[in-house]
Amino acid sequence: MTATDGLFDGPVRALPAKRLRGRVTAPGDKSVSQRALILGALAEGETQITGLLESADVMSTAGALRALGADIVRDGPGVWRVTGTGGRFRTPEAPLDFGNSGTGARLTMGAVAGAGAGAQAVFTGDASLSQRPMQRVLAPLRAMGAACESADGRLPVTVKGDGPLRAMAHRLPVASAQVKSAILLAGLGADGITAVIEPAPSRDHTERLLPLFGAEMLTATGSDGAGWAAVRGPARLKGARVTVPGDPSSAAFLIAAALIVPGSEVRIENVMRNPQRDGFVDTLIEMGARITMEEADPPLVNRGAPEGGIPAGGEAVVHYTVRQSPRLRGIAVPAAWAPSMIDEYPILAVVAAFARGPSRFEGLAELRVKESDRLAATQALLTANGVKAEVEGDALIVHGAGGKPPAGGGRVQTHHDHRIAMAALVLGLGAGAPVTVDDASMIATSYPEFFEHMAALGARMEKAE
Ligand code: S3P
Repeated sequence: MTATDGLFDGPVRALPAKRLRGRVTAPGDKSVSQRALILGALAEGETQITGLLESADVMSTAGALRALGADIVRDGPGVWRVTGTGGRFRTPEAPLDFGNSGTGARLTMGAVAGAGAGAQAVFTGDASLSQRPMQRVLAPLRAMGAACESADGRLPVTVKGDGPLRAMAHRLPVASAQVKSAILLAGLGADGITAVIEPAPSRDHTERLLPLFGAEMLTATGSDGAGWAAVRGPARLKGARVTVPGDPSSAAFLIAAALIVPGSEVRIENVMRNPQRDGFVDTLIEMGARITMEEADPPLVNRGAPEGGIPAGGEAVVHYTVRQSPRLRGIAVPAAWAPSMIDEYPILAVVAAFARGPSRFEGLAELRVKESDRLAATQALLTANGVKAEVEGDALIVHGAGGKPPAGGGRVQTHHDHRIAMAALVLGLGAGAPVTVDDASMIATSYPEFFEHMAALGARMEKAE
């Protein structure tokens, strides 16, 4: 029994901390882990993955891919082997349950549509995932000729991979890596070039991984800032070796904790640096955060890659050193930055509560359709703990108390959203009084080592009523 056992069971309280010290290796990136499994399942032959995030979301995807015919085994901690289907999924015996994972469900819809062997799958998930919009994936897949059914544009959804799809160009109304990736995966089964144009580039892990599996990809940024990605089909993927870099979205909670707890100095190792994921750290540096970074030396490379070979998952990796930063300034973050930090707004809002002056975050409409309505949940998290915060249209305004810590003492409703739970608990470490969350169980969907890592740095989180 360790101090962190049982914390995933219900309400948890974070106590104000004295100083956080130490070093932590960031957990594997969730987006890259999901994609490595899905591409491995589509490929011919064996894919070896190291550093896979063994979280609930990733395990839901693994379970679904097994039901579609892939053989997926764990050889050791984070070390996984996938024997792929060669692009020929089979019809699963039961509906696929993606739990809380939007990425798993949406990307696998595209993969099934493109796998073209007549396989038909029903997609289901938990209460949160069942509320989230799926039409944004189903409409482009239908336009390509895939047979998709859904009563109201939400789960349950049925997708049939019924033969060659039409290669075409899609222009997305909002930047979305999940929708883009679903289309690109379907494009593997189309004859010709399938292209996606986004108003701003979203995370590009699918584009970086596909060439490792032998697909022909093209990416570009338009002069208007639009993101372009195109894949040539039909493509036969070959098994690959992937080393998963650390997750910047999980590291964000460690970084924030170190910034707001007096006397802290924390080193976070092995974190992915990618322009489409770096918005949080770059914004913090503009706010006056004391963060330094150094490149991983030797760089983390894909297992078996030749020396100087392809970096982990096609991604660069750094180590961050973060020191408490008492002089943070409020900041205005334009909508254009949102795709590069879309999952980090709850924890960024917490940091903004410790800054001098107001912060304004624009263009957050997409937060309303995440694991919860994160715009409303973030505002409620702050106000429950004595921080003035307003939602104006799609913008969030946080009034930093000028270097004085927020009161804390609140009980936060997480709405089964892992990032709301973690953001609230981090707030408790720097606030004047403990912060309680109604349920910490969902943290396991993305960061199963959260409590262990926080305890290792000296944070106290304990079961609450
Ligand atoms: C993800 C994309 C993002 C992000 C999600 C993971 C991915 O959503 O919020 O947590 O792995 O592709 P969008 O589809 O809105 O970009």
